Amino acid sequence: MTTGQGASHFSSSPASAGIAAAASAAGTSPLRGEALTLRYESRLIAENLTVDIPAGKVTVIVGPNACGKSTLLRALSRLLVPVSGQVLLHGKDIRSYAPKAVARQLGLLPQSAVAPSGICVADLVARGRFPHQTMLQQWSVEDEAAVSKAMAAAHVEMLAERAVDELSGGQRQRVWLAMVLAQDTPIMLLDEPTTYLDIAHQIEVLDLCQRLNRTEGRTLVMVLHDLNQAARYADHIIAMKAGRIVASGHPHEVVTPAVVEEVFGLSSVVIDDPVTHTPMVVPIASTGSRQDTARAAGA
Ligand SMILES: Nc1ncnc2c1ncn2[C@@H]1O[C@H](COP(=O)(O)OP(=O)(O)OP(=O)(O)O)[C@@H](O)[C@H]1O
Ligand SMILES: [Mg+2]
Repeated sequence: MTTGQGASHFSSSPASAGIAAAASAAGTSPLRGEALTLRYESRLIAENLTVDIPAGKVTVIVGPNACGKSTLLRALSRLLVPVSGQVLLHGKDIRSYAPKAVARQLGLLPQSAVAPSGICVADLVARGRFPHQTMLQQWSVEDEAAVSKAMAAAHVEMLAERAVDELSGGQRQRVWLAMVLAQDTPIMLLDEPTTYLDIAHQIEVLDLCQRLNRTEGRTLVMVLHDLNQAARYADHIIAMKAGRIVASGHPHEVVTPAVVEEVFGLSSVVIDDPVTHTPMVVPIASTGSRQDTARAAGA
């Protein structure tokens, strides 16, 4: 199993072009966590964790509740400062960039985002454009176009004037996704983007993510709980347990009975998905060996 790297591809946003070109030339992974130690006050979540996000691929992180997936995404997006180690964005310490420069490169859909009280959908989605605005250029035709495109892609145009806090869980999730899409970044980190969505909307969102990757070359990182969806949509899977990476690589290498047993404490058979021919997990029984805390001592 490897942590592969492909060619870098980036969106055409002029703001991101300079950094992207430099990274492409250097052939580096666009996002790397190096020897990260992550903690919340006294609670140790991960120690000496190194992770490479392959360029221009769809990476899916899987693992049990509380193993540190969201914490890792928070660290990779600079929301959480590592106790030691560093996050490299295009080969440079992420802390060396201005916050807006990071936000033009990398968009995060957090697991439980909270909207400002009373804000309407169109205004929330428009906030995704903030990193692209300057003192001189507050709102542009490009911003307007990006917001319309994002709302159409997430199927929330008809909700534009509604208050976000009055929406259903699934509608709200699609509004947050639209905000991240409007941000229009070459790297997107999506923490459980399918939460609250019905099965048809789940597939729609995952297909959209795949399209953004395949047609626009964006680098995607998603946390998913559904192993079969992970295997279908990932080029690269990272399986985590207790703050460690247990396995990473192509879905055929990672989605195996042995890894499922080790990571989730679940015995299973893995068969061929009849539609996509990716691995499909059929659970047998929990083996009771699950350790779903971040770290045995710290969580
Ligand atoms: N703000 C916080 N302060 C203190 N501890 C936290 C905080 N956020 C998360 N934790 C703890 O850190 C550990 C890892 O949490 P994290 O949210 O990264 O898990 P996860 O793998 O994303 O889980 P899930 O699948 O449930 O979303 C858990 O034990 C959790 O209780
Ligand atoms: Mg989480």
